[in-house]
Amino acid sequence: MTRVALAFSGGLDTTVCVPLLEEEYGYDEVIGVTVDVGQPAAEFDEAEETAEALDLEHYVVDAKEEFAQLCLDSVRANATYQGYPLGTALARPVIAEAILEVAEENDCTGIAHGCTGKGNDQLRFEAIWRNSDLEVIAPVRELGLTREWEQEYADEKDLPVEGGSGGDWSIDTNLWSRSVEGDELEDPSYVPPEEIYEWTQAPTGESQEIEIAFEEGYPVAVDGVEYEPVSLIEHLNEVAGPYGVGRTDSMEDRMLGLKVRENYEHPAATTLLNAHEALEGLVLTQEEREFKQLIDQKWSKKGYEGLVDAPLVSALEAFVAETQKRVTGTVTIRFEGGQARAVARDSDYAAYSAEHASFDTETVGKITQEDATGVAKYHGFQRRLANEAIAANAADEDDEEVELATDGSGTDE
Ligand code: ARG
Repeated sequence: MTRVALAFSGGLDTTVCVPLLEEEYGYDEVIGVTVDVGQPAAEFDEAEETAEALDLEHYVVDAKEEFAQLCLDSVRANATYQGYPLGTALARPVIAEAILEVAEENDCTGIAHGCTGKGNDQLRFEAIWRNSDLEVIAPVRELGLTREWEQEYADEKDLPVEGGSGGDWSIDTNLWSRSVEGDELEDPSYVPPEEIYEWTQAPTGESQEIEIAFEEGYPVAVDGVEYEPVSLIEHLNEVAGPYGVGRTDSMEDRMLGLKVRENYEHPAATTLLNAHEALEGLVLTQEEREFKQLIDQKWSKKGYEGLVDAPLVSALEAFVAETQKRVTGTVTIRFEGGQARAVARDSDYAAYSAEHASFDTETVGKITQEDATGVAKYHGFQRRLANEAIAANAADEDDEEVELATDGSGTDE
């Protein structure tokens, strides 16, 4: 009796994979695994119903807490890739691990996903699965399936798939972001209609302020009310969404090198990332902020690749953790005109001195305005010398040309 575990959503791709794993790959039994990373309830209903209709043994694993924790880790690293806060990307390793566990518990010898050979998700899933001895199977990629073929096959086999309008967008939703792609949206010159958005509304003239409290870089409370990671993210999606916060429309450079048009909405992520960065701006030194950008960028790239378990990430995390010890305090965010803008920040660790920075004080301690004079004299000193040398050499060349022209030894060529 051979068994294969399939990452199962109940959509067209994963539904056709069920009979194909038996027919084309010779498995006796397929088990479907759906991992909860905060998808809407309707998606679980769809998966459940489809599994039942297929007579598929179906497991649902709740990984929301683990996923939410990873999302908040990503906030400490200000993680975005080309403007996208990595919802899909960060969810994949969590989902892959959960499916692998179910596969091992059920003595599966194979593990499968329904990803195409064009996207990032195949790479993210397999990076985890190939740590095991299980046979990794990607039917859609390996059999070169197209949506049309899948639809025909499903009709032929009388598989429980929804009507097949063919005009639907491909959507991936979890706690951290909702991604919409495909169909007319693939055309970069096509303006997305309002209907693609579900979490956000087109910005109006309304505004609202909220206060977010951070402890060591982790958001812990909103307006004085403490939240666990999952409910904190859910809450912020709800409050920021109506102000049109967190819409991204980008040309995404995928891992395989393809450029693809992607639309996302991520109100909570944008709110938290902006608030966190504002607090870092208050407490970290200029050199820490500058260096941390490099760290954050590397973290983001590994997050995008689905490789958050790389040793590099642990090393980056050590730097992040050290800096975050002081990222404790509050930030006031104003939702307005599609933005979540920090309008106030406060921390006991502020590397800021009102006295020193103010225009209104002359002498603070032993420092006076006059002390800046020496600095001003030296500021740009080397570039002054270099520019003088450039100018002097240019003048010499001009003189030489004039000499050559007057003694007649030059040529016109
Ligand atoms: N391109 C994004 C990523 O690689 C998200 C793709 C989400 N999938 C979808 N069917 N909308 O992270």
